[in-house]
Amino acid sequence: MTSSLFKNTPIFLAPLAGYTDQAYRMLCKAHGAEVLVSEMVSADGLTRDSVKTIQYIYFDPIERPYGVQLFGNDPDVMAKAAEFVLQYQPDFIDINMGCPVKKVIRRGAGSALMQTPDIASSIVKAVKKAVAGALPISVKFRSGIDNNNLNYADFGLLMQDSGADFVCLHPRTVKQMFSGKSNWEHIKHLKSLLNIPVVGNGDILCPEDALLMRDMCQCDGVMIGRGALGKPWIFSQARQMMDRGEYQAITKSSLLGTIMQHIDFALKHKPEHVVVKEMRSQLCFYTKGIIGGSELRNKINHTGSVSELKELLNNYLGGLV
Ligand SMILES: Cc1cc2nc3c(=O)[nH]c(=O)nc-3n(C[C@H](O)[C@H](O)[C@H](O)COP(=O)(O)O)c2cc1C
Repeated sequence: MTSSLFKNTPIFLAPLAGYTDQAYRMLCKAHGAEVLVSEMVSADGLTRDSVKTIQYIYFDPIERPYGVQLFGNDPDVMAKAAEFVLQYQPDFIDINMGCPVKKVIRRGAGSALMQTPDIASSIVKAVKKAVAGALPISVKFRSGIDNNNLNYADFGLLMQDSGADFVCLHPRTVKQMFSGKSNWEHIKHLKSLLNIPVVGNGDILCPEDALLMRDMCQCDGVMIGRGALGKPWIFSQARQMMDRGEYQAITKSSLLGTIMQHIDFALKHKPEHVVVKEMRSQLCFYTKGIIGGSELRNKINHTGSVSELKELLNNYLGGLV
């Protein structure tokens, strides 16, 4: 599975908690995302059989190849969670060792594991044993805790030795959170050290960036997160760019069509009032920089139904075509 997954530098949709739910993943898939990952799922929550947590791992077969991302700190709990996930037959299990959010690191999970490499290694070994070769295991991590503690190279080697089948590096430090620039030199360096595939992630904001990262880092896959918010077509454009060195620009009518498609995907998975509320933040991304955007966003915040929302969008964006 791992070698077939990495045949042609696949383009991953990054896990973005609060955004990359099933509806958004399906939308990105329809626009060329080649590998999808769930939002991070709590291993503790899964093993407690919490109905809410389990919802995060559901996927449609159309989403394949699809990975479930787990976070946690206890190797036994992580192994149990992985066993539980197996019954849903995703294509891989990813382990979150990069999340810098306080709520997660306070529990010794996410990027806190980069400071406890022994526990991180035990987690990979335990999860690997639990899935018994049924699925590849990957680990997503950062450059290190801060600029004085850049341990991505040793950490990556340790993850490889512990049994990870591939890794993904977001080359910012934990201290940086999401500020500043990601340092792609770290991806290039890690790729030169490991025998397993390395996926590069961080600041791919346009199709050109995807090509640039692939060529500069020689990485085996590229992963796009925030660059896909309000721009799900970035995946097909990045594929065109990587294969042909040019891509087709998006038209105003396809912008409107994509937003409508997004709303319809969301309606398949959530009640209307939730869709109306969630689309407010998503539509901020879609309408960034368009003429009349702030007036439109203001009106969007006062809509109470999908039909009202669609009418508003048609009136504003239809006029742009
Ligand atoms: C709102 C938000 C939620 C995120 N949630 C997750 C997550 O659940 N799991 C994870 O590994 N990374 C998460 N990340 C990090 C992204 O996957 C990615 O590594 C980071 O945004 C850098 O890539 P980008 O510049 O393409 O966005 C999140 C980032 C953001 C901004």
